[in-house]
Amino acid sequence: MNVRRPFKKWSAAENEVWQILFERQFPNVQKYACQMYFEGHKKLDLLPERLPDFNELNERFQELVGWELVSTDIQYSSGQDWFEHLAKREFLVTEYIRERDSLDYTPLPDIWHDTFGHLPMMANKEYADLVHEYAEVMLRYTPEERKGLGSIWWYTIEFGLIREQGDIKAFGAGLFSSYEELQITFTDRMLKLPFDPETIAPVAPSPHFIHDKLWIMDSFDQFKQFVHDQSLEKA
Ligand SMILES: [Fe+2]
Repeated sequence: MNVRRPFKKWSAAENEVWQILFERQFPNVQKYACQMYFEGHKKLDLLPERLPDFNELNERFQELVGWELVSTDIQYSSGQDWFEHLAKREFLVTEYIRERDSLDYTPLPDIWHDTFGHLPMMANKEYADLVHEYAEVMLRYTPEERKGLGSIWWYTIEFGLIREQGDIKAFGAGLFSSYEELQITFTDRMLKLPFDPETIAPVAPSPHFIHDKLWIMDSFDQFKQFVHDQSLEKA
């Protein structure tokens, strides 16, 4: 058995930041997030009052999808490291929460983004399996060769949109954890285009600006098909 780094104990001040972020963002995700996000949110039972107990959350996560949560003090794991963990069905959680004076923006992922943004989606077996498959494909390429697929990852897993019963909904973790960008996405300020891997691949995403355009998948099946095709192409 692997010896894991113990999960961090969060301070009252850190829990307070979580609570402010949660209470502010929950009404927005209720309005804009896709169904899959809510199903996961319920399964994980995330609470506004405090950061979750990650030992408990990890157990629940293992029962739900067979993945493990792994604590890291590295705030931005390299793509390689990140994908190697995903390919082992390990999800890295960052032991850091943004400061109270920068609630709106952190270019680096923190525990708010990882937990409120990613984990509800990751609590769905079908989604988690797809992330695993995508990570395996990524590792078959060198970091230079995988840039296009990295952009597609960014504009789906992190900032994707999806059609659901005639509406457009948020699909990406970066949207769920961003108060401002989630709202702007659903105004005319955001150009929303049909999902097109060919167009997305050459776009170099930046975590430093709010996007001006995002792409909408027709369905989760469309995304699944895309990942399966990549997997077959580079078997
Ligand atoms: Fe992320």
